[in-house]
Amino acid sequence: MANDTHVLERPPEGASPDWTIPQNWQAYTAQEHATWDTLFERQAKLLPGRASHAYLKGLDALRLSESGIPNFEELSDRLMKLTGWQVVAVPGLVPDDVFFDHMANRRFVAGNFIRRPDQLDYIQEPDVFHDVFGHVPMLADPVFADYLEAYGRGGVRAMELGALKQLGRLYWYTVEFGLVEEAGDLRIYGAGIVSSSAESRFALESDSPNRIRFDMKRVMRTDYRIDDFQQNYFVIPSFDELLRQTVETDFAPLYEELLAHPDVPVATILPDDDVITHGTQDYAKAKLG
Ligand code: PHE
Ligand code: FE
Repeated sequence: MANDTHVLERPPEGASPDWTIPQNWQAYTAQEHATWDTLFERQAKLLPGRASHAYLKGLDALRLSESGIPNFEELSDRLMKLTGWQVVAVPGLVPDDVFFDHMANRRFVAGNFIRRPDQLDYIQEPDVFHDVFGHVPMLADPVFADYLEAYGRGGVRAMELGALKQLGRLYWYTVEFGLVEEAGDLRIYGAGIVSSSAESRFALESDSPNRIRFDMKRVMRTDYRIDDFQQNYFVIPSFDELLRQTVETDFAPLYEELLAHPDVPVATILPDDDVITHGTQDYAKAKLG
């Protein structure tokens, strides 16, 4: 899901020097394919009217509704024709530099395992459903495809500048948990949301979270929680605008400024925020208390 934790220091047995492994598609069991189908059907019902137009279009163009866990080679062929991206399998989370290098070269790294039937609602490590169903449809969108490639290059730079935490928040609040405004309505596009049945509804319909208009600097100052639904969602006006702002801004001076300022705690609203919904945070309180 995120790019800020990893377990291993070098590629495990059987992995290439770039950490990729064969997907080993023929080894999936009927039960594993059935788990995909169950998750797919559940989300397919929820997402029309909730997910962004770009996401739904990608889902369709990549024919992800075909039964079973997608074969990465076939998926990559389709994606390659649309935006020049590929999907490659990796053994769980990989080091940051590896993650960024693949991304900068239009390779999306995905886990090849699928969650167990008793984990349909929650898993800690990103599985093939989160990675493929959640992330890959957006990669069929030419603008988002460019954004992620630029992000990969930006990641290499952020590592050098000691600002991975700041850049990582941009990923979190866009690629993983982003909302977009389309024809006056809020829509979800973040992979962490669209791959979660409960959060697909929570992100749009709950009174609990704050929904704030996207501001790059603000996002890069804001903590996030990894253990529960988000307390803040940031809303971009369009993917074009997200791409334009992030690509046209030199992040080096921004990082310098951000590193000198305190971070913003998760649920805080700032005076300059352009607030769409000021959340009750009741959900978070219920969890804490
Ligand atoms: N413009 C950023 C930089 O100067 C790189 C970047 C592009 C980061 C797109 C995120 C998304 O480092
Ligand atoms: Fe993810």
